[in-house]
Amino acid sequence: MKRLPLVLAASAFFAVSAAQAQTVNVICSVQAEWCNMISTVYARTTGTKVNMVMKGSGEALAQLIAEKDNPKTDVWFGGTGDPHLQLAEQGLSQEYKSPNLSQQYPWAQAQAEQSKFRTVGIYSGPLGFGYNPELLAKKKLPVPKTWGDLLKPEYKGDIQVANPASSGTAYTMVATLVQLMGEDKAFEYMKGLHKNISQYTRSGTGPIKAVARGETAVSISFVHDGPGEKMQGFPVETITPADGTGAEIGSMSIIKGARNMEAAKKFYEWALTPAAQEMAAAAKQFQLPSNKNAKVDPRVPDFKKIKFINYDYAKYGASAERRRLISRWEKDVNSLPR
Ligand code: F6P
Repeated sequence: MKRLPLVLAASAFFAVSAAQAQTVNVICSVQAEWCNMISTVYARTTGTKVNMVMKGSGEALAQLIAEKDNPKTDVWFGGTGDPHLQLAEQGLSQEYKSPNLSQQYPWAQAQAEQSKFRTVGIYSGPLGFGYNPELLAKKKLPVPKTWGDLLKPEYKGDIQVANPASSGTAYTMVATLVQLMGEDKAFEYMKGLHKNISQYTRSGTGPIKAVARGETAVSISFVHDGPGEKMQGFPVETITPADGTGAEIGSMSIIKGARNMEAAKKFYEWALTPAAQEMAAAAKQFQLPSNKNAKVDPRVPDFKKIKFINYDYAKYGASAERRRLISRWEKDVNSLPR
């Protein structure tokens, strides 16, 4: 008679240790401070071991394609939505309908629907320019207000943007310009812009960090990446182009054939909750959270004040289109002398 509670205690013990022994392997494509915070908090509160690697959106996609026959990743957290859609299109992410989906904004749900529930939006943020007001004043340069302004010869060597092959931010720029100007005009524009670019960085946040440190006056960046630099005491401001811009739908996907499928789904569900999403602002990241009930920090860009194009996420998230635009950019733009 007395043995029953012992058996129950033992099974409870094994259940807890089994839960504690769970592992989830995550590729994280937001900035390090946010990646580290979610990894630490999730591990502490659930007992799950989180193995996290950080990669830009394009690099994460390349890794996931390379490991498709033997996936080592369970969840891909963050990064621009286009490469998540490409992963979905190639059947490399797992279809999963979250019970929390209805709590997310329509743009986040649309990202799930158009991928047949193989990815989901977790945040959004507008593309624009970062600038260093002190450096601009020193160089007697005006704040650029439109895409056209960036072509002015006085900005030569003073603008940075990332490389669209490795960075989702830069691919969002290419796709935005194509939609705003028409493809041929957009490529003419990027050839002109090329003359003013000092460096194409690997990561999308590299250019605004260079602005913050006074290494370049202007960057083409997601504007939500500005306030975090400013909070560290750097002179950085942001602006969105008056002629219109695009926005990312930062996304999350579970990998098809994930070794830790159960743990992957638990992590995914957690990442869609208001509490998890509010960690972004706590880690000085100011994207708009996808969960309608998550608190919105006042430093998150005000979408109502920005002129947006009607970004076609399905078209520009298609693999063939991305490959074609990036190789045209390599051939027509990046190969030119500066
Ligand atoms: O983490 C900041 C951020 O701007 C995200 O909002 C975005 O999804 C990601 O970087 C894109 O990074 P990359 O351009 O390096 O792919």
